[in-house]
Amino acid sequence: MAQHTEGRKFQDLSEALKESTKDVHAEAENTEFMKIFQKGQVTLHEFKLYLASLYYIYVALEEESERNKDNPVYTPVYFPNELNRTAALEEDLKYFYGPTWKEDIQCHEATQKYVDRLHHVGQYEPELLVAHAYTRYLGDLSGGQILKKIAQKSLSLPSTGKGLSFFNFSGITNISKFKQLYRARMNSIPIDSDIIERIVEEARKSFLLNIEVFQELQRLVNQGKLLQNNHLGKSKLDFHTTGNNRIQNPKENGQAQMNYTDMLPSSPLLRWTLALFFLTTTIVVSLYAI
Ligand code: HEM
Repeated sequence: MAQHTEGRKFQDLSEALKESTKDVHAEAENTEFMKIFQKGQVTLHEFKLYLASLYYIYVALEEESERNKDNPVYTPVYFPNELNRTAALEEDLKYFYGPTWKEDIQCHEATQKYVDRLHHVGQYEPELLVAHAYTRYLGDLSGGQILKKIAQKSLSLPSTGKGLSFFNFSGITNISKFKQLYRARMNSIPIDSDIIERIVEEARKSFLLNIEVFQELQRLVNQGKLLQNNHLGKSKLDFHTTGNNRIQNPKENGQAQMNYTDMLPSSPLLRWTLALFFLTTTIVVSLYAI
């Protein structure tokens, strides 16, 4: 269990977390999904899938955060005004998917596994909740700020910050100072070394859950490309995968442009109905012309 802290002396929880998650952090950074993101090659479709997964994750994290706000093992790191992301994600999803965003997004398997773990921890092992809060929030305040700049540029999002609310922490004036405060608060949690070891293990698990989400998103994206390739021929696939053509340009009015799959209904039944409708119309018009 405690193989990542065993035999090592850590001053405090924040140091233990930082040191013991270095390898899994590198693993997360090096997933295909994150590498594509860092190269500035993320497409709008990929970005939307990413935000949708984050939405389910933060709803769960923040529900459990609320449940444990008076628990001494969580209270010191309870910063709803500064950190909560659910409302920001709702705003972004509304921007990208439109008013029906809630019906249009899906909680895929790996995301659901992460959500289930968050609820389990929040309800039955609340002393471990800080591990999840640390992994997500300190990550958003660190690498997340790099990803924000990349996404803005890659997707040509408006400078107003529309579509990027998730990355904007308006309740924090100095990110670096806030991270210091957060680390100090983690270190003030009344816990012994056994619990520190369990928190470290849970943080590693949290990184792995994130990695599984990225891998699943990449699989979904690849499957989508395969389908497009089968249906539309190779030239269409090239448009979505090569060089800067991965990037969708925004519309003139600043609203991010949807690729054609984004405009189709997400339900397969609806897609088939639409296809059938077009087919029938084409036949009727052809017969009429004859
Ligand atoms: C492309 C992806 C990523 C990049 C470029 C990146 C970059 C960074 C950088 C530069 C820092 C150090 C900031 C500092 O010391 O002030 C950092 C810290 C951190 N990152 Fe990432 N990161 C990425 C992905 C992730 C992911 C996916 C997670 C977790 C889900 C994550 C969680 C963290 C955490 C928790 C810290 C704080 C470490 C600590 O100070 O204890 N990062 N990241």
